Amino acid sequence: MKTQVVIIGGGPSGLLLSQLLNRAGIETLVLERASRDRVLSRIRAGVLEAGTVQMLREAGVAERMEREGIPHAGCYLTDDDLMVRINFEGLTGSPVMVYGQTEVTVDLYAAQDAMGTTIVHDVEDVVINDADSTAPFVEYTSAGKRIRVDCDYVAGCDGFHGVSRPTIPAEKRREFERVYPFGWLGVLSRTPPAHHELIYANSSNGFALASMRNENLSRYYVQVSLTDKVENWSDERFWDKLQSCLPSEVANTMITGPSIEKSIAPLRSYVNEPLRWGRLFLVGDATHIVPPTGAKGLNLAVSDVFYLHQALIDALKNHDETGIDGYSERALKRIWKAMRFSWQMTSMLHQFEGEDSFAAQMRKATLAHLAQSETARRELAENYIGLPF
Ligand code: FAD
Ligand code: DHB
Repeated sequence: MKTQVVIIGGGPSGLLLSQLLNRAGIETLVLERASRDRVLSRIRAGVLEAGTVQMLREAGVAERMEREGIPHAGCYLTDDDLMVRINFEGLTGSPVMVYGQTEVTVDLYAAQDAMGTTIVHDVEDVVINDADSTAPFVEYTSAGKRIRVDCDYVAGCDGFHGVSRPTIPAEKRREFERVYPFGWLGVLSRTPPAHHELIYANSSNGFALASMRNENLSRYYVQVSLTDKVENWSDERFWDKLQSCLPSEVANTMITGPSIEKSIAPLRSYVNEPLRWGRLFLVGDATHIVPPTGAKGLNLAVSDVFYLHQALIDALKNHDETGIDGYSERALKRIWKAMRFSWQMTSMLHQFEGEDSFAAQMRKATLAHLAQSETARRELAENYIGLPF
């Protein structure tokens, strides 16, 4: 078998890359380890930057998002009962879009099906061969059969635990990592959102985030210890904890109900560089992870796709390799800025186990400064809505 670009991973970055390449007349093969139902059962990110929204438009998958997504002109950062509004529209001229990653993925699968592209699910034992030569090939097992695909390029869009990154020899890459001593416990519930805008809460009881998917579907998170288990958290315990972290005017009026999903995600900052080895390119979570506090994970995966799809089109259509030669450096410039923002938001809003009393005062002072300084709010807004590609 032969194709132009083998894309490993059918998550948002792999599907978007496939969509953009196929629209440009480039043939792809997407190999996904999980079933489609499994991919679509993951509840993950919820906030799309303006640049991500624009990319989805260019990929021809924005119709439902324009109808069902909720543009947000601002959000709140709070410190106990102090509520600081960050006016994205007023400070930067741009809103963000609240539209779940799951919905983005549904729309991408629908568009790929309509175009008749090939996405193989439930593949096993994917191996990338000769990526540092001019003739790479990928092998995988599907329905018990071992298959070989020759290709021009391989895109590793297979997330943090995929095979693409480890294919690059250790001596050819560098890793940078910070693991945080807490995770986020997330709950989805069929209840109206606690507030019409997102609330990122610092409090004497720890961090919480009040988010949403639509007017009757809420998404909430609280900070938990790394060793905590979902089974330890009854709905009642979760709501008590959440309400103890949110400003009382929000906590006292919010509606709670049964959870329909509950999961714990660890928090880490991680960068692998470079993003290229020969004809293999890494994209999204396969090469970087941010803590979710700045809502950057999915958005950063999309900006990688932005750079890479242009580069691959230039290489395959115009025999111009400048884009692929510059991909890693170009993407990393933006990645490190999003790393910094996500780390800063995480540090500003979470309690660190064993911290001294000074640390809590620094968080309070940072939030008090934000309340007072439009310059500080503008800096935050500019990063939150997304730096230019
Ligand atoms: P992924 O979404 O991880 O997709 C990779 C795909 O590759 C998967 O479908 C996987 O099954 C497949 N795959 C893996 N290995 C192989 C293999 N060997 N062969 C074939 N296929 C393979 N971001 C936020 O902004 N806010 C959040 O609240 C948030 N919550 C998150 C919760 C969790 C548990 C996780 C893991 C991430 C979360 N993120 C969040 C981050 C965000 O979801 C990711 O940044 C985004 O999914 C990245 O997309 P991706 O396509 O690069 O990777
Ligand atoms: C959501 C997740 C985030 O990490 C974030 O910063 C904002 C919203 C969410 O799932 O809605």
